[in-house]
Amino acid sequence: MSEAKIAPSLLSGDFSNLEHEVGRMLEYGSDWLHVDIMDSQFVPSLTIGPIVVKAMRNHFTKEKAFFDCHLMVMNPEKWVDEFADAGANMFCFHYEATEKHMEVINRAHERGMLVSCAVKPNTPVEVLDPLVQHLDMALIMTVEPGKGGQSFRSECLPKVNYLRKRYPDLDIEVDGGLSPKTVDAASDAGANVIVAGTAVFKAENPTQVIAELRNSVLKAQETKPWAK
Ligand code: DX5
Ligand code: ZN
Repeated sequence: MSEAKIAPSLLSGDFSNLEHEVGRMLEYGSDWLHVDIMDSQFVPSLTIGPIVVKAMRNHFTKEKAFFDCHLMVMNPEKWVDEFADAGANMFCFHYEATEKHMEVINRAHERGMLVSCAVKPNTPVEVLDPLVQHLDMALIMTVEPGKGGQSFRSECLPKVNYLRKRYPDLDIEVDGGLSPKTVDAASDAGANVIVAGTAVFKAENPTQVIAELRNSVLKAQETKPWAK
């Protein structure tokens, strides 16, 4: 069974002090750090690139901090080597952003990264079927990618359920609008990697929120509601 992992999204953190933000999220009990890369083409916003991942990596080893890099960029094949050189642990690209899916997957693996493919809310999950055997993770977006703080879209969860029923051991990540209020629906559908930006960074007690998100996944894994 895939393990529960909680990945706070640094997009909701203080970009002027990322070393501090990564450090405190690790202290609060997060498993991964989710890093949102936006190019102003695949999505309207422009955020950060590999140079910032490298700057964070200089303060934390690959074992200490797992950088789950979510590339909301066109032609991700152009960026595989730079993210590998920067020290990314996971290279997550969007299905919709390229036609060279296997090229991205193979090159990212060659360069020692784990690989994930993400789908936007309106992209059918079946597009992932031919790729899953080559992937370490799939990301089902539960908001339209591009910004934090949006409302969770539960209509995306049948896609999580579709994957979990077919691939019991696959890491399945959900991203967008996750909080202690919405996480149970995602966990029950079969998600085991939970991204949360606003819910963790704006919380009075982030440690408690991270624990609640984790407990939701662990509880669902005991009863396996997705199999019903
Ligand atoms: C949205 C990003 C998310 C975002 C999530 O495009 O991919 O990772 O930071 O933020 P919340 O949890 O606030 O919806
Ligand atoms: Zn993201």
